[in-house]
Amino acid sequence: MRGADIWLPPRGTVICPASAIEHDETRGFVLTASDSVPNIATDKDKRLDMFIWHTQGHFYGFVNSCPHLGLPLETFPDRFLNAMGNALICSAHGAQFDATGACFAGPCSGDNLIRLELALVPQPADPSDAAPLDASLKAGSPPQNAAAHADKNIVLIGLLAHS
Ligand code: FES
Repeated sequence: MRGADIWLPPRGTVICPASAIEHDETRGFVLTASDSVPNIATDKDKRLDMFIWHTQGHFYGFVNSCPHLGLPLETFPDRFLNAMGNALICSAHGAQFDATGACFAGPCSGDNLIRLELALVPQPADPSDAAPLDASLKAGSPPQNAAAHADKNIVLIGLLAHS
């Protein structure tokens, strides 16, 4: 799967509260058009299968598609880490990835997962209010303690180009 083939919901679509993903854990999500645009019929092509890894004080987002054969990485829901818990692993053929999405072991070594740019935004007092994006709180910025995430939502910005 290439970046150009990926459907994305509108910038700023809320994925989940930051508190929903414990540190050193992963969680999978499927976003559809109906998540971001109320009352629209879900188009099967408008679907983003993704996951987030909370590690080293950051939230890292990825498209759930292995660069080897394009399969989803996990066999069991929300289980994207290897036995050591220090790398992502594809359950199909064992490719392993670091937090940048780079494959360092397995059949697609040297290739990369497609990364997603995430941001942390304050949770609105009224859930129907849209929260403004705060660039200073983008995932990937300096680590913050867990308490700093307690009242934040994780939102999707878009695809993140590899540096
Ligand atoms: S499909 Fe992921 S390692 Fe083969």
